[in-house]
Amino acid sequence: MMNAERKYPNLSSPIRIGAVEIKNRMMMAPMDTGFGNTEWGGFTQESIDYFVRRAEGGFGLLFSGGTNGDCVVDGCDGILNHPDEFIRQGKALNERIAPYGCKMFIQLSMNVGRNGGLKTPSPLPTLANPDVITEALTVEEIHTKVEEMGRAAKLCKDAGFAGVDIHAMHWGHLLDSFALAFMNHRDDEYGGSLENRIRVAKEIVEAIKREFLMKSSLRSSAWRRLRLWKNKS
Ligand SMILES: Cc1cc2nc3c(=O)[nH]c(=O)nc-3n(C[C@H](O)[C@H](O)[C@H](O)COP(=O)(O)O)c2cc1C
Repeated sequence: MMNAERKYPNLSSPIRIGAVEIKNRMMMAPMDTGFGNTEWGGFTQESIDYFVRRAEGGFGLLFSGGTNGDCVVDGCDGILNHPDEFIRQGKALNERIAPYGCKMFIQLSMNVGRNGGLKTPSPLPTLANPDVITEALTVEEIHTKVEEMGRAAKLCKDAGFAGVDIHAMHWGHLLDSFALAFMNHRDDEYGGSLENRIRVAKEIVEAIKREFLMKSSLRSSAWRRLRLWKNKS
């Protein structure tokens, strides 16, 4: 650590994300650990212990792995289906990382689209079987998803989390497929220009900020490895 501090003098200094003060620049990237989170995105005792150990180790900010923010349209399970349990588990986790001055953001996902054979901006070959084509989301369904993402963020706030991170332009999941022109062939306000293609992500951030004054960040990755139907690579 001493060498790292000499080489990167800002590493130990605080940083603000909106109104949230983070004690240092060490942040654990969102990672689905696969060993402890429940199917619906809650925290088992094992996963709470896992995050507490990272807080003990000195991280200023922890991200959860992608967590289902909306459930109705895709008919899947998510934190909105288990509000009381999520609040109880979230509070237990936040109470244990607080003594270390550590904060945590939940990464909210609008789901995985074609990667899970779910609905997409326009019909697309699914990841598992390119011969199976997805259904396109209606505008009403997009609005429902955005509204649910806002409500999920409120739940995260009630559970004591410092903010949320939107699982956005990453890995060909739903919001990524909205943003990518070759996956989005809509001719309404959610397709066409870049402004239209990132409209859903923008509406999610607006819904969260308007209603709940949560701090949110938008996850995007310059690097991506998409298994495409074109070459099936
Ligand atoms: C096991 C594993 C699970 C991951 N899960 C997520 C995830 O849920 N959400 C996300 O945005 N990124 C996820 N990632 C990507 C990481 O956040 C990170 O961007 C990636 O590992 C590259 O980081 P690096 O360049 O520091 O190695 C995951 C990565 C790994 C290795």
